[in-house]
Amino acid sequence: MQVLVIGSGGREHAICHALSKSNKVDKLFCLPGNAGIAEIAECVSIGVMEADKIVAFLNSHKQINMTVVAPDDPLAMGLVDILESHGHRAFGPSKAAALIEASKAFSKSLMKKYNIPTAAYEEFTDVAKATDYIVKCDYPLVIKADGLALGKGVIICENVDEAKLALQDMMVAGKFSDAGSKVIIEEFLYGQEVSILCFVDGKTIVPMVSSQDHKRALDGDGGLNTGGMGTFSPSRIYTDVMASQVYTDIIIPSMEAMNSEDRKFKGVLYLGLMLTDKGIKVLEYNARFGDPETQVVLPRLKTDLYDIFDAVIDERLHEINFEWSDDATVCVVLASGGYPESYEKGEVITIGEIDDDITLYHAGTAIVGGKLVTNGGRVIGVTASGVNIDEARAKAYKAACNVKFNKAHYRKDIGIKL
Ligand code: AMP
Ligand code: GLY
Repeated sequence: MQVLVIGSGGREHAICHALSKSNKVDKLFCLPGNAGIAEIAECVSIGVMEADKIVAFLNSHKQINMTVVAPDDPLAMGLVDILESHGHRAFGPSKAAALIEASKAFSKSLMKKYNIPTAAYEEFTDVAKATDYIVKCDYPLVIKADGLALGKGVIICENVDEAKLALQDMMVAGKFSDAGSKVIIEEFLYGQEVSILCFVDGKTIVPMVSSQDHKRALDGDGGLNTGGMGTFSPSRIYTDVMASQVYTDIIIPSMEAMNSEDRKFKGVLYLGLMLTDKGIKVLEYNARFGDPETQVVLPRLKTDLYDIFDAVIDERLHEINFEWSDDATVCVVLASGGYPESYEKGEVITIGEIDDDITLYHAGTAIVGGKLVTNGGRVIGVTASGVNIDEARAKAYKAACNVKFNKAHYRKDIGIKL
């Protein structure tokens, strides 16, 4: 079988890596890919939103049996529907189903309608009404742009002035263009976040092993929010009792809610959960694998990933027997200096001695003039496994010291969150 993966980050490298272990997959393509992915897949320089070019590429490569659409933007655009309408098998939700991530107004109203626990909220399209509302709220308060905003559309406001500024930025200045013309204003939830990714085919939904992301740029959860500075799996705090309660109260109802709305979800449904002292609540849904959660979850999957994708497409996920490793995994993200704000690209990366059991998932890397260079904010995710998180951490940090580039920065406390 030949498979095309759409995307270019660490998540796509982890997906390609898992697919490359399948004895059913003879050849992998990745579009556009990165320098690390290029070691295991043929990279194709087409952008993830260039639907016409992607269709033309697949039409001229009839031997490709499956396309995996990993990032949010092409899913929200309806790339899976477009590929299917041209007769190509694709893994990922339809445009109608991807709305669960692409519109927070939609996902919040879905949760309200189907009694799925989430933070209390109000929705606004009128800045004057939103401004009246924030004056009466308790703080901190969370203001979210409705649409996709590269993970930056969530502002945690400590007081009314910050909230006014956030509303101005989103609703008047158009900081997130159309994504911010509608906003969600919601109560701040206290607790720890756990990420649960689920395979779902509309009939069956199977949660993967748990993971936790470190979203802030600096140690001790300081600095700005990022796409994710590191992850570990499993979560130490997400117990089996919680998992079975979440399965009954959140996971199954989420799949059924989408079916009831005639938006059957097929692909990976990501639940961002907050473990609060008033119960477990959904912070967000994503319509895809998380990044960098995938880099710690897929290495623990023993079942053939191609078989799972194939079963999801054909709606026979119930046939798959899932097996997971008991090992723990830790991924430490090496980022460019300045990330998540402005940073340089093109810094030469040198990789020293790395033990065989370490995987370097490339995110923002490229080969320029024969040299491996940085090409994004998050550059490489150094991933290790061990009998427990402490062992995996120690291995990941030992290896991280041997990956060097100018102004590299990484958190020293990945996996320590208790
Ligand atoms: P979202 O894109 O909705 O997941 O939000 C991004 C991040 O903002 C989450 O992972 C949380 O860390 C934080 N966040 C979002 N909503 C809330 C909330 N209601 N209370 C506290 N933190 C939140
Ligand atoms: N790590 C969070 C996300 O993928 O959205």
